Amino acid sequence: MNNAQLIGPFKQIVTLENSPLKGALQDKDIAIIEDGAIILQGEKIKEVGSFDLLKKDNNHLDFIEIKHDAICIPGIIDCHTHICFAGSRARDYAMRNAGKTYLEIAKMGGGIWDTVQHTRKASKEELTEGIINRANTLLSRGITTVEVKSGYGLSIDDELKMLEAIKVANNKCTTELISTCLAAHIKPKDFDGNHKTYLEYISSNLFPILKQKSLTNRIDIFIEDEAFDIDISREYLKKAKDHGFEITIHADQFTPGGSRLAVELNALSADHLEASGEPEITVLANSDVISVALPGASIGLGCAFTPARKLLDAGASLAISSDWNPGSAPMGDLVLQAAILGTFEKLSNAELLAGITYRAAAALNLTDRGTISKDKKADFCIYDTDHYNEIFYHQGKLLPSIVFKNGKIAHSTNY
Ligand code: NIG
Ligand code: FE
Repeated sequence: MNNAQLIGPFKQIVTLENSPLKGALQDKDIAIIEDGAIILQGEKIKEVGSFDLLKKDNNHLDFIEIKHDAICIPGIIDCHTHICFAGSRARDYAMRNAGKTYLEIAKMGGGIWDTVQHTRKASKEELTEGIINRANTLLSRGITTVEVKSGYGLSIDDELKMLEAIKVANNKCTTELISTCLAAHIKPKDFDGNHKTYLEYISSNLFPILKQKSLTNRIDIFIEDEAFDIDISREYLKKAKDHGFEITIHADQFTPGGSRLAVELNALSADHLEASGEPEITVLANSDVISVALPGASIGLGCAFTPARKLLDAGASLAISSDWNPGSAPMGDLVLQAAILGTFEKLSNAELLAGITYRAAAALNLTDRGTISKDKKADFCIYDTDHYNEIFYHQGKLLPSIVFKNGKIAHSTNY
């Protein structure tokens, strides 16, 4: 077993321990240790507390001394991305800004289908390399866990190629990748059948292989006029649950509806929600489904933000994620996007931090991370500053100087 190590002192450790999973948060509601230290043992956190006390009682331990003002927050979790893709959609972006809508561009052969063409042409190795590069970029910004969806293959072989690329990439990079099958992204134009038969084809032929090859335990679907309707989505997701998969939904992006199904089927999360109105907000708030805001898609498409303030005030649990993808959200910078969401939706820093840490962990059903507390994974980010308010104030420009993943330094700048 690795030797235990003591690291500190930190002006603040934003532990977020025992903070509520649901509802609005003020900064006074979150746990912060002033002048703190962390003891690591192997991949886990052994103890967190006052630096003076921990140092006095553990003087024999290896000591990583932080010699200037620094603060510490849990490793950031990006719980919704599409970073397995090939090709660029810069042309779509320009067309949108010149007045065409996302759905019009999709109808003209751009949009998701365009990325499917490029992704199908790419080799598994090329896709793997792309994922690793993007995951390393995320790590340098403090993201220690990232969910990655398939969904640009849309055939059995191409979806398998994507999910295998995610699995290989996960073994080669330090950031942990959590895969999700999004074969139900849109009906591929070359499928000989209707939406219902496409989903039946996927559930009958792909689900068993996903289980057999342990490629994912999560199934996602895009519920939208241009994608899949509620009734056939319900059938598909029920089959996914019967196979033992966890489920999540791209819901209420342009048209409300998907969020209700997420609650009906007890999905882990309902993601997007830009078009959610009062009825959807109430239904979500009265459920255990995590509402996931994707401000990068609102910025990329020039659309309204998810009604994050209303969701939180109604009592929902709100996670925030980048949705990094080549179409609607090409930026991929979660901290920047959370900061912008905060300014428009009037969210406290506590709500933003919760949204990118333990509430995002809940969206992925991960109970071993998201806070800095005993027995959790030793995933955390150190910033060279004296107050956590500085993180969102700098709108993504204040980067962590050290990122720990599983108890080891995974990224560092000036040490
Ligand atoms: O979450 N809305 C559906 N899917 C993605 C966009 C994918 C794309 O445009 O390539 C999203 O925004
Ligand atoms: Fe998405």
